[in-house]
Amino acid sequence: MLTSEQSVRPTLPLTSIRSQFPSLSQTVNGHPAAFLDGPGGTQVPQRVIDAISDYLRRNNANTGGAYATSRHTDAMIAEARAAIADLLHSDADEVVFGPNMTSLTFAMSRAIGRELKPGDEILVTRLDHDANVSPWITMAEDRGVTVRWAEIHDEDCTLDMADLASKINKSTRLVAVGYASNAVGTINPVQEIVRLAHAAGALAYIDAVHYAPHGLIDVAALDCDFLVCSTYKFFGPHMGVLYGKREHLKRFRPYKVRPNTNAIPNCWEWGTLNHECITGITACVDYIAGLAQFSQDQVVHPEPALSEVEGRRSKTGNSRSRRSDIEAGYAASHKHERALIERTISGLNNIPRLKIYGITDPARFDERCGTFAVRIENHTPLELATKLGERGIFTWDGNYYALNLTEHLDVEKTGGFLRIGLVHYNTVEEVDRLLSALHEIVGNV
Ligand SMILES: Cc1ncc(COP(=O)(O)O)c(C=O)c1O
Repeated sequence: MLTSEQSVRPTLPLTSIRSQFPSLSQTVNGHPAAFLDGPGGTQVPQRVIDAISDYLRRNNANTGGAYATSRHTDAMIAEARAAIADLLHSDADEVVFGPNMTSLTFAMSRAIGRELKPGDEILVTRLDHDANVSPWITMAEDRGVTVRWAEIHDEDCTLDMADLASKINKSTRLVAVGYASNAVGTINPVQEIVRLAHAAGALAYIDAVHYAPHGLIDVAALDCDFLVCSTYKFFGPHMGVLYGKREHLKRFRPYKVRPNTNAIPNCWEWGTLNHECITGITACVDYIAGLAQFSQDQVVHPEPALSEVEGRRSKTGNSRSRRSDIEAGYAASHKHERALIERTISGLNNIPRLKIYGITDPARFDERCGTFAVRIENHTPLELATKLGERGIFTWDGNYYALNLTEHLDVEKTGGFLRIGLVHYNTVEEVDRLLSALHEIVGNV
């Protein structure tokens, strides 16, 4: 069981942070709900809910019309593009909106595939979510392109970089890789992978869906060609976002309807978008920027009054300072998540017959996020998730579409993993409740 020496000092004022998320105060069977299901989608702060309902109440219209609500809608979409550009460190015309990451990736894989031919190669990885695998494989089948697979080190579920490097050659046209694994939490060395891809003249397509709630993304520094993420994983609405280098968005030919513009980024967007959710995207980026106030190193912040938090929000309108606030916001949440990772791993290690898949060495915690795939002998992941769910603790079971990984590790046939996913709004108490519940379920109390 946990000892007092293992206690972790909170580094974020969670009472005021959590009070911004209405859903976090729910109860299940008399237990406070513990949302340890962030990798499947995070909760949203009130400002996102307000932005969405305000749009529907006052500005609901299609784009490009010669009247007020349509003009407001055009302006609102432009604002959301600027917000994502700040989040990813790109320009606004390099930001494409879509229903989700999977749809955007299918669309882009088709457009890229138009230029590929037999003899060309693409590289995917065993660690990735299938949304960054199947779109490429189906495109390759259609175009007669060869698919190569980068394998993993089974013992810690990290990419085998030697294997990956050996499979990139002068025929490689594209390397598709995840920034972080949504199953086991591994953070991949994407900068190095982009470098290897470019050295061979290949494009680098990065799936940052799982990384975005945990770490700062800088597409300019990464120099990646494309990067995709989903706003519902970082405190926003159910939408997907694609960054593409301007030169690529201009050069590749999208599948599109004739009346749609040929100008980027709109030429990559199909039909009418989800305007109310796009409004919520600006709000969720501003929420992350608002975490900047908690970023001073080593300081345990007193709980600020909510009015103070509101006051700071209105100051994050300027785009330049929003990027630096986003950087500081991630620094603050990272520190808190790191403390939760330490507490969780050390607690899980004390549960009999439990196996953690992924990095467990504290010296390497910078290479993982707070997403843990576990199995406990004699208990299926579904049984564990159900028993935890009855106690108000929300986790996930199965493969979460990281199907190639669960098959490779031979856990697919027996229910995959139990996944515990932590983000910055989770508390030490929630981690402790999870650990106590697991002890109780395995009969170790
Ligand atoms: C790592 C990763 N990539 C891609 C996806 C697919 O994202 P979307 O649901 O936006 O298509 C997910 C969803 O869980 C994911 O975790």
